[in-house]
Amino acid sequence: MARMTLATPALQTSRLRLRPFADADAGPLFALHSNSHVMRYWDSPPWSERARSRRFIARCQGLADEGTGVRVAVDRASDGAFVGWCALVDWVPEYRSAALGYCLDEAMWGHGYATEAAHALLHWAFGTLDLNRVEAKADTRNAASARVLEKLGFVREGTLREECVVNGDVSDTWVFGLIRREWRPPVTPTSAP
Ligand SMILES: CC(C)(COP(=O)(O)OP(=O)(O)OC[C@H]1O[C@@H](n2cnc3c(N)ncnc32)[C@H](O)[C@@H]1OP(=O)(O)O)[C@@H](O)C(=O)NCCC(=O)NCCS
Repeated sequence: MARMTLATPALQTSRLRLRPFADADAGPLFALHSNSHVMRYWDSPPWSERARSRRFIARCQGLADEGTGVRVAVDRASDGAFVGWCALVDWVPEYRSAALGYCLDEAMWGHGYATEAAHALLHWAFGTLDLNRVEAKADTRNAASARVLEKLGFVREGTLREECVVNGDVSDTWVFGLIRREWRPPVTPTSAP
């Protein structure tokens, strides 16, 4: 079945702006993904080559062009500082399903930004893509990410035992799911014009 392309949205919340990635994000993006503390529960090692951020940014447009998802950069509204990114990928129109992911700069943790950004993207996705199910995965040691998903209304559905091996470190993965009928529309986020 032919797929539609997707337009990566620009969204605004009370404290954040979500927008398409630009080439100028390459520096902050590399700093984020090369930080081994930020990446400690990721399913692949930290980046070591700067070219990775260019590929990531090009891939954002690729996802939208092939209609499988969107990845948005997240800035703090008050000063434009780069917060990180949030993504809705693996969209399967037939199943009305997709997967959620996010990664935030360490300096931005602990303010509710991940929850706020993901909430805005989910609000857009449930409204635009006629989604029924959103899936998310997290390393079972990643308590902060599990808490973000729980705050968003995701249900922990199971454990994938020893799913990842990163630099010899074997880890288990939790699978979370959010079904449309369990989703409560947020009060604050609104779409930018
Ligand atoms: C996981 C991550 C997105 C959280 O971002 P954040 O903006 O700090 O998240 P929020 O502030 O919205 O919510 C975090 C929640 O986890 C809680 N939390 C944080 N660290 C915790 C810990 N070690 N144990 C238990 N709860 C923890 C916070 O208290 C908060 O819950 P609360 O609102 O009930 O107090 C961020 O740490 C990150 O990007 N990490 C690196 C990349 C990553 O792991 N991404 C997810 C891959 S699945």
